[in-house]
Amino acid sequence: MSKQRQLDNLRADILAKNICPDLAAQATQLVMGDGNLNAEIVFIGEAPGKKEDEQGVPFVGASGKFLNEMLATAGLERADVYITNIVKYRPPKNRDPSKDEKQTFWPYLLRQLEIINPKVVITLGRHSMGYFLPGAVIGNIHGQPVDVTIDDDATYCLIPLYHPAAALYNGSLRQTLADDFMRVPEIIKKLA
Ligand code: URA
Repeated sequence: MSKQRQLDNLRADILAKNICPDLAAQATQLVMGDGNLNAEIVFIGEAPGKKEDEQGVPFVGASGKFLNEMLATAGLERADVYITNIVKYRPPKNRDPSKDEKQTFWPYLLRQLEIINPKVVITLGRHSMGYFLPGAVIGNIHGQPVDVTIDDDATYCLIPLYHPAAALYNGSLRQTLADDFMRVPEIIKKLA
């Protein structure tokens, strides 16, 4: 079955199981993911914001524009990568996704990763990082690749990065994020 078909089935499954009904009730739509289904890199953010909720595409608002800039510093375009979020409905008033919401969506994120089958998973911010690396502190480990094995099953090379929204208006974090992005192609080359 094609990857697109498998992702469509995953989407249908989330809708049929009425995952996070309270979030679903107030969101415009489910925001599954965007980009190249054969990408070597999958980026995982937190949850859709207002623009993402309206358009059904992750990272299209201010953080998304900044993410595009960061991708360019690594010589990448959005069409080269796949982008998604741990929680796939917009939380009301852009609040942080709750532990329950993240936990409920986690198995679906893992299935999404299995379908795309990237070489590298890049978490953006602490919400998605925390599920791959419980207890990790982003300030200590950002930009450093680490192999993670999930449920004794799939192993991914994970690179935890700061969330673009955190770096957008903070000069020093912005530089840190740009430096980390610039190192991504080198990390991938070493894996090949
Ligand atoms: N922030 C996220 O974490 N995800 C989006 O899709 C947009 C902003």
